[in-house]
Amino acid sequence: MLKKIVFFYGPKYNFKRHLPKSRALTTISELAIYSDRKMREHTFKIQSRRSSDGAAAEKQEERLSVPCLVAYSEQYASISESALHSFLSFIDQFEVESLYLQNPPAHLAEQFRNMHSRVRVIKYEYKTLDMEGLKRINREYPQVIIGQEEVKRRLLTALYPLAANKLAKPLVLLFYGPTGVGKSETARYIGDVVGQRLFRRQFSMFHSNEFAPYLFGGRHTGDSLAKDLMERESSVILFDEFDKPNPLFHSAFYQLFDEGIYEDRNYRAEVKNAVIICTTNYASANEARERLGAPLFARFDAVIGFRPLDDGALGDILKRSCREAVCKLSDWERKIVSEEDLYRSLIPLLYGGDGVRGVKRLVREKISETLLGDALRR
Ligand SMILES: Nc1ncnc2c1ncn2[C@@H]1O[C@H](COP(=O)(O)OP(=O)(O)O)[C@@H](O)[C@H]1O
Ligand SMILES: [Mg+2]
Repeated sequence: MLKKIVFFYGPKYNFKRHLPKSRALTTISELAIYSDRKMREHTFKIQSRRSSDGAAAEKQEERLSVPCLVAYSEQYASISESALHSFLSFIDQFEVESLYLQNPPAHLAEQFRNMHSRVRVIKYEYKTLDMEGLKRINREYPQVIIGQEEVKRRLLTALYPLAANKLAKPLVLLFYGPTGVGKSETARYIGDVVGQRLFRRQFSMFHSNEFAPYLFGGRHTGDSLAKDLMERESSVILFDEFDKPNPLFHSAFYQLFDEGIYEDRNYRAEVKNAVIICTTNYASANEARERLGAPLFARFDAVIGFRPLDDGALGDILKRSCREAVCKLSDWERKIVSEEDLYRSLIPLLYGGDGVRGVKRLVREKISETLLGDALRR
């Protein structure tokens, strides 16, 4: 008899903290395997009984005792569509005492409607950007992202209502500018300031035919954005290369940007007190408006442009990369490779190259070349 039912909405690491420590846990995947095996044995028994002229009387089998049944988000895919749709009868084959479900799909949760009073719902409280975080960005940003002073000013202004807790919806930002100038890195940095792992989806990675089920939710076994959002750890969300998908998909984001709700056939994610950052390679705000279309463009709380990096900024980034790379070397390697020589030999290569993206590789190659030269001379 079910004594305790818990629905947990949020990331796995925190769900695990709510699970009872003192009891043996059984997962729904384990039960699904067990149940399949039983079913096969049962069929086999019936067949063999028929062939042996129905001699043995059917013995009432005892139900397996399951003190604590747990379902992690990703495990709903391991049980069949029918077990999911009649979940109560599925678990009724067993003697389940307590049940812990992480992010149950809507039609599963619905089956517990009549037991409403007995279901305990826990929602994960996301850490969000606060004033301390805003001050930290103000202090650190020029060292983290070099040569984007204007971005810092616009970003702090845009983030203020979120940090001051004045928003009832997510804060939605559009970054535009050439590649390799610090757009994704800025999102990653805001993620670091807030804490927890940033939620990032790179939209260029999806092909059109797999993007539709991902956005709108297909079979319960497939990946979906709503499900992934429910499992996210962070209140900082990065939709990288947001300019890549077909404009057909834009309307999927209206409700998320307006109200912080993202819903598909199976799942419903709540995204409040969050910052959603969409990066694009548009050259100007005007181009972004034209290509994204007015209805979507109007939904951004701020549209922030990143400049191409000038020679001074590139030089500073190179200097920093040299310092970081040399720090990682051993004592004797540092006698062969000096930060100063490294920087001076690379600076002429920098401006002709592929900007900042190539910098780390240039530094790595130059270090290997120098160390190899030394080793061959010995
Ligand atoms: N302005 C910058 N200051 C410091 N590092 C930068 C800057 N721009 C880019 N980088 C570095 O270059 C790499 C690519 O930057 P990224 O932010 O991903 O570029 P994009 O603007 O295309 O999103 C990262 O490793 C990042 O650390
Ligand atoms: Mg990027």
